[in-house]
Amino acid sequence: MASAARSAALRVLLLVAVAIAGALSDPTPLQDTCVADMRAATPVDGFACKPQSAVVDEDFFSRAIASAASTANPFGANSTRATVATFPGLNTLGVSITRVDLAPGGLNPPHSHPRASELVMVLQGEVLVGFTTGANRLFSKVVRENELFVVPRGLQHFQLNTGAGDAVFVAMFDSQSPGVVTPTFAMFSTKPAMPMEVLTKTFLTGEDQVNAIMSKFAGF
Ligand SMILES: *[C@@H]1O[C@H](CO)[C@@H](O)[C@H](O)[C@H]1NC(C)=O
Repeated sequence: MASAARSAALRVLLLVAVAIAGALSDPTPLQDTCVADMRAATPVDGFACKPQSAVVDEDFFSRAIASAASTANPFGANSTRATVATFPGLNTLGVSITRVDLAPGGLNPPHSHPRASELVMVLQGEVLVGFTTGANRLFSKVVRENELFVVPRGLQHFQLNTGAGDAVFVAMFDSQSPGVVTPTFAMFSTKPAMPMEVLTKTFLTGEDQVNAIMSKFAGF
């Protein structure tokens, strides 16, 4: 191959490699293990690694989502997260998982994860999972035991228990720390409070209606 053609081919390869790397949510790890040292003094994007000599089997094990969480709240839902914050062994690995328990009729309200796609697997019961796109198209499906549903990164989605009994699902993420933004909380229970004018204009409604909704979010 002529050297000009070879360097053009190399450039294309490099572009493909960059495109693939760019499609991943978290950066790829640079070492075999990097268990988070949650007490490291130096802040980094992620967490510093524990010294290798201090790494033990338990660092790669977690019971964070082993138990059902209480659904005795107005939503009838509770999320238990195994992200790097609760499972330091996930540091730099680009994965995490959340367990969600839903009482009958329970709702995991519309929310989004800025840093991860979400793969939902129902372990028990029947869950209506839906997400919306930038064009406000709603894609949804009733998902049952052992079935999957995927939510693209950053898109708003919800999970509603449509079965007769309790439901349990796990949500797997391609980020050690997917983040979560729940618009209802981000509007009605911010600190400091969202200006009333923003809320009345957003919802095309009056202060009384806004206050009525806001009062329900006071405890969150
Ligand atoms: C979620 O479950 C945990 C563990 O049972 C409980 O401590 C917490 O209060 C629950 N959260 C809500 C909002 O009900």
